[in-house]
This record gives sequence, structure tokens and C-alpha cells, in this order.
Amino acid sequence: HIIRDISGIRSLEESLQQQMGIQDVIIVAGNSDESPWVKSELGRAAASRMKSILTRENIIAVTGGSTIAAVADTLTPSEKEQACLFVPARGGIGEDVKNQANSICAAMADRMASKYRVLYVPDQVSKDIYDSFIKEPEINEVLQLIKSASMVLHGIGDAMTMAERRKSSNEDLEIIKSAQAEGEAFGYYFNENGEVVHKVQTIGLQLQDLANIPSVIAVAGGASKAKAIAAYMKQAPPSTILITDEGAAKCLLKAQ
Ligand code: G3H
Repeated sequence: HIIRDISGIRSLEESLQQQMGIQDVIIVAGNSDESPWVKSELGRAAASRMKSILTRENIIAVTGGSTIAAVADTLTPSEKEQACLFVPARGGIGEDVKNQANSICAAMADRMASKYRVLYVPDQVSKDIYDSFIKEPEINEVLQLIKSASMVLHGIGDAMTMAERRKSSNEDLEIIKSAQAEGEAFGYYFNENGEVVHKVQTIGLQLQDLANIPSVIAVAGGASKAKAIAAYMKQAPPSTILITDEGAAKCLLKAQ
């Protein structure tokens, strides 16, 4: 705490927390755009916050991305009597296998010696296939678990970076560009006012479900993500805890 006070990080955290109107902000030193180890620090800070709010029974929904994958890397088994079940927040949204929510769930469960479930659903399916898919007992059961999550752990991405990384169609890229999307989370794209301008149709957690989830932890850092974080935070649930780095935090504060 003393070091955080001296370096001014504590006051940066408080300013951002008030600016965004969310529950809490934790800032790790450095800028993950420039130093890869800062992303590991983000992961460590998120893992420790997550563990501090676990209860006896936990259903933890996680999204994909390299930042949430970094959280998995630093998890360790719980010393207390705490059962955890990891579920992917949404079906596959075109990520590399190691950065997919399904793989991250498995990695987290492995690190914490707990359980996980997967949700394998392709991105673009016809309405008919989608309707029959979600009636499959196996899929439906996982969907119910996701909706009853006690905690969500999610990343935030820069809109264009994510659209390109997910190999979105030219049509979708055009929508994202012309609507001036800044940020992406859960497959939703947001403009600078926090309005949803595009959405990838997958099953699982929907934005409106977040309001019913007691703990929401967003993990995103790097100066290049500042605009994306600001956009998403415009509509994030007030229960959100943001874990970010100095690189993003300084830009976010400047933007005010
Ligand atoms: O939805 C946001 C992305 O999953 C963030 O991905 O952590 O690799 O930047 P990233």
C-alpha cells in the first residue's frame, strides 16, 4: 500500500473509479503494450482479486483473449473449502484456440483443481440450426449454468483489432468502421458513448445478463486500449471491478 501511495497509483485508482462510476479500479505499474510482463501482472492482480471474493460455491464465467489467458497462468488452488466451476461466457467467437473461452476455462480449472464445462457452438449458424442447438440438453445445461454465474471475468478489446483478429466479414468490418466502434467485450462492439453498434451472434452470456451477476471483473490494459475501455465502461454494470495498467489509466484520465 505504501508504495502504491507514494507512486500516486492509489489516487489514480480512486479518480478512475469515480470517473467511471464502477465498484473498484486496480492499476498495475507499466504499460502492457510495451512490456509483455505487465500483462502477466494484470493476470496476477485479477487472479488475486478473484480469489478474494470467492465464496463456498462459485460458477465463474470467463471470456476469451490473451489477457484472460494471462489470468489463468497465475491461478493457484484455493486453500479454503471453495468449489469452483468454470464456464465459457459465450460460444466460440473466432479466436485462436489458446485464447478461446473454452480453453481458458479448462486451464483455469486445471490450475485451481476444480471443474469446467465447455460450449462448442460455431459462430455463424442459421436461425434454424441455432434454435435446435440451444434445445440440445447438453448445451442447454451449460447455458443455464452461464446465466446463473456468480462471477464473470472478461477482457475488453480495441474494436478494429478484435474485428480483424476474428476475421470478420468485409460487411461486418464496414459496419464496425462506419459506426466508429471503439471497444469490444463479450462479442459486442461499442462506440465512444457506450452504445452497442454491432454484435457477434453467439449463444451464452448476453450483455443484459451482467446486471444479475454479483461480481464482474474486467481485465484490460495497454495505452492502445484506453478508448476501448472508456467506451465499454460507459455502460458497464456498477458492480464492475476494473483491473488495468498505468499505460491505459493515464490515457483514460487525460481523456477527461
Ligand atoms: O473481448 C476482448 C478480447 O478478448 C481482448 O483480447 O486480451 O487478447 O486483448 P486480448
